[in-house]
Amino acid sequence: MSNKPLEGIKIIDFTHVQAGPACTQMLAWFGADVIKVERPGSGDVTRNQLRDIPDADALYFTMLNSNKRSLTLDTKKPEGKEVLTKLIKESDVLVENFGPGALDRMGFSWENIKALNPKMIVASVKGFSDGHHYDDLKVYENVAQCAGGAASTTGFWDGPPTISAAALGDSNTGMHLAIGILTAIIGRQQTGKGQKVAVSMQDSVLNLCRVKLRDQQRLDRVGYLEEYPQYPHGTFSDVVPRGGNAGGGGQPGWVLKCKGWETDPNAYIYFTIQGHAWAPICRAIGKEQWIEDPDYNTAEARQSHIFDIFGKIEDWLADKTKFEAVDILRKFDIPCAPVLTMKELANDESLRKSGSIVEVDHKVRGKYLTVGSPIKFSELKPEITSSPLLGEHTEEVLRELGYSTEQVALMQKAGAV
Ligand code: COA
Repeated sequence: MSNKPLEGIKIIDFTHVQAGPACTQMLAWFGADVIKVERPGSGDVTRNQLRDIPDADALYFTMLNSNKRSLTLDTKKPEGKEVLTKLIKESDVLVENFGPGALDRMGFSWENIKALNPKMIVASVKGFSDGHHYDDLKVYENVAQCAGGAASTTGFWDGPPTISAAALGDSNTGMHLAIGILTAIIGRQQTGKGQKVAVSMQDSVLNLCRVKLRDQQRLDRVGYLEEYPQYPHGTFSDVVPRGGNAGGGGQPGWVLKCKGWETDPNAYIYFTIQGHAWAPICRAIGKEQWIEDPDYNTAEARQSHIFDIFGKIEDWLADKTKFEAVDILRKFDIPCAPVLTMKELANDESLRKSGSIVEVDHKVRGKYLTVGSPIKFSELKPEITSSPLLGEHTEEVLRELGYSTEQVALMQKAGAV
């Protein structure tokens, strides 16, 4: 068996920006032949967005499109439609994240694609699910974070709804879609038939905000949420509040200042007070007297003065860097981590060694850093390659479809590829 399990799966990658490209990039890492279809002349809008080197594809593009081939095709021109039709007949999956209805307007509705290739899996990302009262809306990351419950529950209680830096609306939706596609491929092995797979950005954000839906129901029933900073001294309304940096589960936690926080905005650790780790925590911070003290020795007793406890831990942290602190706390089995900057992550030796961050060589821009597979396999070592130049593989793909050099030249002349 090939050590790339998706080898032999051909994917028409009709995606752009982030949500769709993140999905198809991952499938390409695992061996699929991903042919990115882009508009001649311009291509994916992210090729030009936030460029750091003039005339070189932006990192926004290169970091979401590695391991793919690029085919330029104007699918609104008859020649472009003909090529896409041929591709559909030969491919396994078509992935798209156009605005609502764009694929239908192009003449490639699900019904039409199914008629061309009944084994085809058509996978779509949209802002909202089909039939939703907002299903006509175009959506970007932050819009999805607001629509999916993340923004209203992120940030501090005395500040506005806040957007997470993590791409909960975009890349997260792409990951959901990848799971859907793989499921449909397995389904096809059983039935011989393809199917339509649809993931909405709102649903994907909501799926990650499930603990907040848990909290809404608890709040409805009992009127308070004991793990939130608002408890027991503050007040609750009838909606889940923003909880700052509180832990979302049964373990209280907070971001705590370490040595140098006055000048370094990231001199912090995340500290978790795991219930059964109370004695080790007390030993680690030199507060053995708290181990048996009834004001401290149960989670319930600690809750009313949890911020005083965090304050005492900060006193202990005052002469330790975030790295020194974690090195001590790890010996006591305390769940914690330094707050790492992107610079620290980019230079992290462990992440380089594991392949989670890799350096690749791009024909125009030279070396750049990108993410590697966060999923590790015993038998598959994804090799991350550079993103393609616009139309780099147009001729190659058209030749594979049976077009002659002359036919390709004619299509180029007509501006169709
Ligand atoms: N050849 C010819 N036409 C092409 C083409 C190609 N290769 N690729 C795209 N187009 C056309 C589309 O058919 C569409 O035409 P139409 O609207 O006239 O029918 C047009 O380009 C615009 O596509 P659209 O996807 O609507 O682009 P946009 O820039 O207006 O909107 C988004 C961008 C991201 C807001 C929108 O695509 C969207 O909401 N997508 C779904 C959710 C999503 O994935 N959001 C982004 C997450 S990163």
